[in-house]
Amino acid sequence: MRIQRIMPEHKAALEPEKVDLSLMTSLLERFRGKKGNLIPLLQGTQDIYGYLPREALMKIHEFSGLELNELYGVATFYAQFRLNPAGKYIVKMCHGTACHVQNVGDITDQVLDMLGIRDGETTKDGLFTVETVACLGCCSLAPVMMIGEDTHGKLTPSEAVKIIKEIRRAERSSQI
Ligand code: FES
Repeated sequence: MRIQRIMPEHKAALEPEKVDLSLMTSLLERFRGKKGNLIPLLQGTQDIYGYLPREALMKIHEFSGLELNELYGVATFYAQFRLNPAGKYIVKMCHGTACHVQNVGDITDQVLDMLGIRDGETTKDGLFTVETVACLGCCSLAPVMMIGEDTHGKLTPSEAVKIIKEIRRAERSSQI
């Protein structure tokens, strides 16, 4: 059951070899002269690129004076940050308590099996990244899966797999 559509604030995912650092200019200006804003700075950077490219972390290092290993330390500590490009669709499988007791583990396993990847990985065609996440905030609809901007609730394993297969089919037919 598809229940809501949430528009993203930013959409500028790039290929890893095409990191346009000029996209960071206004973000960096917002934080110029302000200390203690590393997390929002990293969040803003990830909003721009979809992940934290090494070139962008170098730019933050030059801008803030923070050591690169400190930046990597923060980026790897928090699950919200990604150091590699994600697929076109990020599939978030909610593993909060309500979804956990509603069997989201089986759903996740079947989705991962069907896509041939493990948790946190991206499919070879670059379409899907699957991530297990904490509560998505709509527990009454457990078990819940979010794909890109769309949230799907009251799922069964076969429904979850079907939704993803339909997206893949639509993507493939749009390339013909
Ligand atoms: S536990 Fe899954 S939405 Fe809250």
